[in-house]
Amino acid sequence: MICKIASLPGDGIGAEIVPEAIKALQAVGRKYGHEFIFTEALIGGAALDAVGVPLPEETLRLCRESDAVLLGAIGGPKWDNLPVHLRPEAGSLLPLRKELGLYANLRPVVLYDALIDASTLKKEVIQGTDILVIRELTGGLYFGEKKREQTPTGQIAVDTLVYTTEEITRIARLAFETARKRKKKLCSVDKANVLESSRLWRETVTELGREYPDVELTHMYVDNCAMQLVRWPKQFDVIVTENTFGDILTDQASMISGSLGMLASASIGGKVALYEPSHGSAPDIAGQKKANPIATILSAALMLRYSFNLEKEAQDIEKAIVRVLDKGYRTADIMQEGGILVNTEEMGDRIAEEILEAK
Ligand code: IPM
Ligand code: MG
Repeated sequence: MICKIASLPGDGIGAEIVPEAIKALQAVGRKYGHEFIFTEALIGGAALDAVGVPLPEETLRLCRESDAVLLGAIGGPKWDNLPVHLRPEAGSLLPLRKELGLYANLRPVVLYDALIDASTLKKEVIQGTDILVIRELTGGLYFGEKKREQTPTGQIAVDTLVYTTEEITRIARLAFETARKRKKKLCSVDKANVLESSRLWRETVTELGREYPDVELTHMYVDNCAMQLVRWPKQFDVIVTENTFGDILTDQASMISGSLGMLASASIGGKVALYEPSHGSAPDIAGQKKANPIATILSAALMLRYSFNLEKEAQDIEKAIVRVLDKGYRTADIMQEGGILVNTEEMGDRIAEEILEAK
């Protein structure tokens, strides 16, 4: 199989973690005779510095013409005070997701047994956790109308949370279909006791639920969900929620897996899907080879699964990660007593070796 992949390292640790995911894919390619062709392009602050815009036309074109996109991370303090349309977040990543029609962001929250002590949460609480959070990605609070105006006494700032029935149905359908292939439990998270958009969300999801009588549907307020995720995460199978709620809940849920550096993501729904770790550019550790590349390598596994239908190959990456963790290798964020501290590159090397060695 020949696969054209756009590689967008972006900012901060992006340039350190993306090469490790490429290494893993190349190992898979060598082992199974697939050809992964990587073309690198600029995005975020790196693009802004080089060509003056955070999302160059050329980058967007490359993504559209590729079979999948692998992204590192964007943003950093250097660009924080720019006008919003130039900032890496609002000026590159959000429009890229929107332009590619990636309305669904899948974030698996899985605990690897080897990392059970890496989490700050109690063992018995997190053991056996396997949650898939489906975050709506091209609507909601992130994409509604925004305004900032001067008033006689100061300023007024407005963000709008907008959803249409169609947008809710689209993401909810994907969530029901996904739940059907798992433990058949779907929890829809909203704030329907306060927000009108959430009331429409809840009505729409409930209505669609009639088509899925085999899936157990529950509704939960987002504040309660935040609490339940740390109280007893095992109660969840699939969670579907609004864009911002999903952003916040997944950072929180990542601690169940030991570190934000373990949380992969797949953004799907368009012709070309995008794979990126759920974490940010971590400017505080950028350039120090400390970053954990596992979230990005796991995102590459999701790419093999969702974009190329290469299930066996995807599992090879996942198993390689398990073996490397079982052997005790740890980046700083998941380091424990008795662990073998490795840097970003070494972690990538160990994983690539395991991919090649495993039957
Ligand atoms: C994420 C990130 C992004 C988001 C930022 C960088 C815009 O936090 O992918 O979770 O909020 O979507
Ligand atoms: Mg986030």
